[in-house]
Amino acid sequence: MKTVVITGGTDGMGKALALTYLRRGEQVVVIGTNARKGQAVLDAATELGADRRIEFIQADLSLLAENRRVIDQIASTHQAVDALVLGARYFRATRFVTTEGFEANFALFYLSRYLFGHGLMAQLDQAAAPVILDLAGPGGELSRIRWDDLQFAQGYNPDEVMGQCGKLSDLLAVAFTRRYPATRVRYVLLHPGLTATGFTGEYDAASAELVERMRERGQPIEAALVRILRHLDNPPTAPLTAFMQDNPIDVHGGPFDSAAADRLSELTSKLLR
Ligand SMILES: NC(=O)c1ccc[n+]([C@@H]2O[C@H](COP(=O)([O-])OP(=O)(O)OC[C@H]3O[C@@H](n4cnc5c(N)ncnc54)[C@H](OP(=O)(O)O)[C@@H]3O)[C@@H](O)[C@H]2O)c1
Repeated sequence: MKTVVITGGTDGMGKALALTYLRRGEQVVVIGTNARKGQAVLDAATELGADRRIEFIQADLSLLAENRRVIDQIASTHQAVDALVLGARYFRATRFVTTEGFEANFALFYLSRYLFGHGLMAQLDQAAAPVILDLAGPGGELSRIRWDDLQFAQGYNPDEVMGQCGKLSDLLAVAFTRRYPATRVRYVLLHPGLTATGFTGEYDAASAELVERMRERGQPIEAALVRILRHLDNPPTAPLTAFMQDNPIDVHGGPFDSAAADRLSELTSKLLR
């Protein structure tokens, strides 16, 4: 039986993926902040007769302490993790700083992904064909990164923030594969296409209208699942791959610059100290 860990597994694509794995007879751990959504996943699992194979961990992954608590909990109860799906996201129309002092998107979309990938490495290494799948938006220009203001203290703009989050994911993946050159863990960056999901977040009037239109235009979640499962069911042979919908992206080009990845990695180590 496989063990699949899904950050952001209580809504949208993460939840649909969790239920798919439960139907297949696998074991799933989902993480989210919302107890009601968590209970809905547990109830759906019960209906599938899979209540013994589902675990909901309620946690705010924009807090480092919470990431560490959840990672420790998973590591102490699961010897192997076959798939780690990084899908937690929360849109914020206005800037928010967590109680630990980090800009919330930077913390949730970047630092949490960093901590989970490295933190569950030992468990991933135990699996037969381990995969980390980051649901993001790979391949944008490196200029999207505000190196001198990574947490948008000046001029917060949600679109720019989300663009930067995608870039940080790319560089995190590059740094990861550089740090573990001999690992069997396959790192996949995937933009599954615009999808009608929960779009969890706090929106102002303008962004709420925008997101409503995105929901109308978005593909059904089932279409995104096909793209996601393609990689999880048949992990690529290359250590790092990236896809924009069905199209592979060159992970050796400028947007995946290894010097920039090292730079981000060093900055992150300092921040986490
Ligand atoms: N939808 C798209 O068109 C699209 C396109 C490209 C990439 N993606 C990426 O795909 C991933 C999934 O997107 P989605 O659209 O399916 O998302 P969604 O429906 O909005 O769900 C987001 C998930 O993140 C969880 N979450 C939010 N804040 C959290 C926090 N502080 N700590 C822990 N969990 C938190 C939510 O759970 P709670 O509410 O329980 O906290 C929920 O389970 C995201 O990374 C997104 O960037 C989406």
